[in-house]
Amino acid sequence: MQRVVCPGSFDPVTNGHLDIIGRAAGVYDEVIVAVLINITKKTMFTTDERAEMLREVTKGYGNVRVEQFHGLTVDFCVANGVNAIVKGLRAVSDFEYEMQQAQMNYRLAKVETLFMTTNPLYSFLSSSLIKEVARYGGDVSGLVPEPVLGPLRARLAQE
Ligand code: PNS
Repeated sequence: MQRVVCPGSFDPVTNGHLDIIGRAAGVYDEVIVAVLINITKKTMFTTDERAEMLREVTKGYGNVRVEQFHGLTVDFCVANGVNAIVKGLRAVSDFEYEMQQAQMNYRLAKVETLFMTTNPLYSFLSSSLIKEVARYGGDVSGLVPEPVLGPLRARLAQE
């Protein structure tokens, strides 16, 4: 059984994330979406909220589960008996940092990193850009899963 981890902050999950998770679910037996409990970085959504939105939007996949973690991604992988991480690559600009992380993760725990190229429909997406555009009234429908739109509007209305 080949299991992989898709780690991230998912603050909030975008259609780009969902595309990678869904495609990974088609290739591997099980995908564990690992939501980072950010201690230093201020997030718009709590870890529970981010994980709940991910559960909602991945509920159609029988082989995807969502967990939370803190500390090192590789420690989460080892604790769950997983030896590979799947990441999306949006552009060449992602590559340098992703390669550095992949090499460090292999050095730390021999955990492999497998890259999937992002669907070009979503290659310009990031959670930070979604929040910025939504904050100033831009339309982000079609860029985040439908169940994220309500919580995003509600959170911005509180600012
Ligand atoms: O969605 P993000 O914030 O870009 O995801 C980054 C993430 C969570 C994959 C990365 O920051 C990470 O793995 N953090 C956990 C701490 C860790 O393992 N750091 C060393 C990476 S080599």
